[in-house]
Amino acid sequence: MSKFYITTPIYYVNDVPHIGHAYTTIAADVLARVHRRLGHDVFFLTGTDEHGAKIAEAAVAAGLEPKAFCDRIVEHFKRTWRQLDISYDHFIRTTDLRHEESVRNLLSCLYERGYVYKGVYEGLYCVGCERFKTEEDLVNGKCPDHNREPIVYSEENYFFKLSAFRDRLLAALEDPNSPDYYEIKPATRHNEVVGKLRVGLSDLSISRAQLSWGIPLPFDPKQTTYVWVDALINYLSGVGYSDDSPTFERYWPADVHLMAKDILWFHAIIWPAMLMAAGVKPPKVVFAHGFFTVGGQKMSKTLGNFLPPAALVDRFGIDGARFLMLTEIPFGQDGDINLENFKARYNAQLANELGNLVNRVTSMIHRYFKGTVATSQRSESDVEELRKFVELAAKKAIERLVEIDFVAASETTREIVVRLNQFVEETQPWQLAKANRESLAEVLYALAEGIRICAQVIWPVMPASADKILTQLGLPPAPQSDPLPEVARWGAAGAGFTIQAAGEVLFPKIE
Ligand code: ME8
Ligand code: MG
Repeated sequence: MSKFYITTPIYYVNDVPHIGHAYTTIAADVLARVHRRLGHDVFFLTGTDEHGAKIAEAAVAAGLEPKAFCDRIVEHFKRTWRQLDISYDHFIRTTDLRHEESVRNLLSCLYERGYVYKGVYEGLYCVGCERFKTEEDLVNGKCPDHNREPIVYSEENYFFKLSAFRDRLLAALEDPNSPDYYEIKPATRHNEVVGKLRVGLSDLSISRAQLSWGIPLPFDPKQTTYVWVDALINYLSGVGYSDDSPTFERYWPADVHLMAKDILWFHAIIWPAMLMAAGVKPPKVVFAHGFFTVGGQKMSKTLGNFLPPAALVDRFGIDGARFLMLTEIPFGQDGDINLENFKARYNAQLANELGNLVNRVTSMIHRYFKGTVATSQRSESDVEELRKFVELAAKKAIERLVEIDFVAASETTREIVVRLNQFVEETQPWQLAKANRESLAEVLYALAEGIRICAQVIWPVMPASADKILTQLGLPPAPQSDPLPEVARWGAAGAGFTIQAAGEVLFPKIE
C-alpha cells in the first residue's frame, strides 16, 4: 500500500486562527481525505509554532507565562479545526517534549557532522516575520509586511553552513535522477526559487543569545535555537523521528509540504539543506499556494477585515465554508476573498444547482414511487449517454483533486450537476408520470445514481453534505474504506434506491 504524508505549516500562536490558516488546513484536509479514499496509508500533520520572540512578546502583552499563553491559543486552533471538520492524524506543538528531543537530535547531528560554527551575526531582524532582513527588503526603514522597524542585531550566534549546499540543492531540483530529487510546485514557484538559489546562499544564523523562550542548543545551552530551525523540524518529530517507533520509516519523506508562498524559501531551500546535512531524505513535494487579501486589503485586526473561520461557518455552514475557500481562487494563485462573491457562489452552485437537484429528484421518487426506484436495465440511449458523461466527469474530478487543482475538480463536478439538472428538463419526468412509468423509473434511477456519484466525488471537500445526500438516497454514509474510483462507477451501489427524508434542504439559500 502506498503511503501519503501531508503537512500544513505549524501556525504561530501569537493570535487566534484566521481564514488564511484555515485555507491551507482545509486544502490539506481535502488531500488527506482524497488519498485515504484512494486506499493510501495517510498521515496528516498540523500543529502550532510556539517559540521565539514574537510569541514571547504576545505572552507578555497578554500578561501570561509563554507556555500558559500558548496553551490558551492552541485550544482556539484545535476548536477551529473541529469546527471545520479537519481530519488531522496528529497535532504537533513545538513545546511537546518529543519535538524538543527531535530538535536536539537533529542539531547535534548537524554539529557532529561539522555543519555548525560560531560567528557574529550583525544585521536586521523583523520579529513579525521572525527572519533576517536586508536593506532592500525594507520600505521607509520598515518591514512592509508588519509595518514595524527591524531590530538591529549584533551578537555571537551559531551558524549553519547553508552556503555549502547550493550546488547540491540545484542538482536536487533540476535532475530527476538525483538521489536528493524533490519538486517545488507550482512551476512558477520552482523557477523563482531556482533563480534566487543561483544568485547564491549565505550561511544561516541558527541560534539566539538573548532570547530564552525556545529550545536550548544541545551543544551550547546558553543559546536558544532559532525559531524557524525549531519549527521546520516538526515535520520529522510529527512522525516520530526521535521515538523508537516504526512510524518514521513508514512515513518519511513527506509527500507534500503545503504552505503559502510567504514561507516557501524556508521550506524549499533551508529545510532540504538541513536534511541533506543530517543525511535525511528531503520531502518529495513542496507546494506553495498563493496569498489572498480580504476585501482588497491585507487582512489585519486594525483594518477591521480580520476574518476568523467561525465567521464563515456561521454564514455558510461547515461545508459551505470549505467549498467556498477552495473554489474562489485557483489554487496556487493570489486572489481576493470577498463575502459578497462567496454568497453569490454559495447561492448559485450549492443552494440552487446542487441543493435543488437533490431536492427535486428525491421528491419525485417519493411522489411517483413512494420512495423506491429500481433500474430495469433497459439502457435507453439517453440514459446510456448520461451514464458515460457522469462516469467520465467523476474520473476527471478525482484526478484533478489528486493534482491539487481544487477549482478544476469543482468545475468538473459542477458539470455533472448541471448535466443532471438538464436531464430533468429534457426527460420531463412529470410528463412521463402520466404516460410511461417504466421510462419514468429508469430516468429517476439514473438521476439518483448520478447524484450518488456526485456525492462521492464531493465527499473530500464537503464530507458532511455528501454523507447527508447518501443518507437521503437510503445509503450508508461514505465509508472511508471504499475506494473512490470504485464507488464512483455507475451502478456501484446496486440497482435501486429507497429514499429517506425526501426533499430535505441541504444548503439553505442565503438572502
Ligand atoms: O509562518 N493567504 O506561521 P503563520 C493564504 N509559524 N494563506 C495564508 C494567509 C493568506 N492571506 N495568511 C496565512 C508561520 N496563511 C510559521 C510556519 S512552518 C514550519 C512554520 C497561511 O501563522 C499560509 O499557509 O504566519 C501561510 O504560509 C501560513 O498561514 C503562515 O502562518
Ligand atoms: Mg505569518
